Amino acid sequence: MSDQTAVVLVKKEHLEFQKRTIPEVQDPHYVKVRIMSTGICGSDIHFYKEGSIGPFIVKAPMVMGHESSGVVVEVGDAVTMVEVGDHVAIEPGVPSRYSEETKAGHYNLCPHMRFAATPPVDGTLVEYYVSPEDFVHKVPKSIAFEEAALIEPLSVAVHANKLAGTKFNDTVLIMGAGPIGLVCGQVAKSFGASTILYVDVNDFKLNVAQKSFGATHILNSKELASNVSVEDAIKSLLNNKKINVVLECTGASPCVDAGLKALSAGGTFVVVGMGANSISVPMNLISMGELTIKGCFRYCQGDYKDAVSLVSQGKVDLKSLITATYKFSDAIKAYEAQLDSSIENRIKTVILGPE
Ligand SMILES: NC(=O)c1ccc[n+]([C@@H]2O[C@H](COP(=O)([O-])OP(=O)(O)OC[C@H]3O[C@@H](n4cnc5c(N)ncnc54)[C@H](O)[C@@H]3O)[C@@H](O)[C@H]2O)c1
Ligand SMILES: [Zn+2]
Repeated sequence: MSDQTAVVLVKKEHLEFQKRTIPEVQDPHYVKVRIMSTGICGSDIHFYKEGSIGPFIVKAPMVMGHESSGVVVEVGDAVTMVEVGDHVAIEPGVPSRYSEETKAGHYNLCPHMRFAATPPVDGTLVEYYVSPEDFVHKVPKSIAFEEAALIEPLSVAVHANKLAGTKFNDTVLIMGAGPIGLVCGQVAKSFGASTILYVDVNDFKLNVAQKSFGATHILNSKELASNVSVEDAIKSLLNNKKINVVLECTGASPCVDAGLKALSAGGTFVVVGMGANSISVPMNLISMGELTIKGCFRYCQGDYKDAVSLVSQGKVDLKSLITATYKFSDAIKAYEAQLDSSIENRIKTVILGPE
């Protein structure tokens, strides 16, 4: 058995290139993928900086990476869904087929989920990665590998918009124009929304929202006068048009509050962002406006397939998210660069390779 190079988080703030055994295809329904591109996600940075996210604590060296694409190089005897040579986006979380949640149709909520680069499960920043055939999704060869890697966050946006029930002519408010907010807005547009307002504090990202991610309106909430609330500024920008859907993509308490206050009676608020464990919310508005608040976690059946379709049909331009690329041999530098919070014009960094 030969070795491969992996990008390993040894402990917080300590990444190393280490050797790992190349995994074998041992199950007839598994495939081996040569990794071609991997996006860096906010959760990777949390593990790198803090060594934990909530209950997930890095206690032993862990291979990083969960937003990856690649080429199928080997298939098990029973595989029918992909072939050697296919380009694929890897769905990084594999649930147990025995859990109640999986059987109830919510495999994303399976308590036995094994999710790449979430301790103790190793991630995809390696040369070869094995996965069940139904967790690699074939993408057309016309889609670049770096774009295919970002089908992972796009699937989150597909899931969020399905939960929101976004439909033709809706007015959708997106709180936060980070990578997740941007893809949420563009998916809302492709689901039929006609008015899409983004709120953020970063002009670079708001301009990207306008150029490539469906924004009809943008609002920099940092620039408001001290006597103007974010919800009032939103309502005035939209001439009091009713907001059907809010997709909260910051996890920041002021954004949750403003989003709930801006949402029209009967509307749906989807909690995509993850922030503090508890915050206060305007309860009377929720009850008297019959607001629907929905949690949202990763993606479930059909979401990856729909995300691939959106990219294949040219409805989402994932390349416009990418503000930096690094070679695999510079992967550690790519993570170190994420720690520099002074960089304003950063959305998504993608690691290309291994060469
Ligand atoms: N539910 C899920 O399955 C899921 C999956 C991936 C990410 N997330 C969460 O979604 C959120 C967004 O992810 P991301 O990768 O785009 O994160 P990000 O940090 O890159 O983007 C967040 C954006 O919100 C903006 N923002 C923060 N505070 C603000 C404020 N007070 N007012 C206005 N704008 C503000 C920031 O400027 C930034 O552009 C994060 O909380 C992340 O943890 C959830
Ligand atoms: Zn991610």
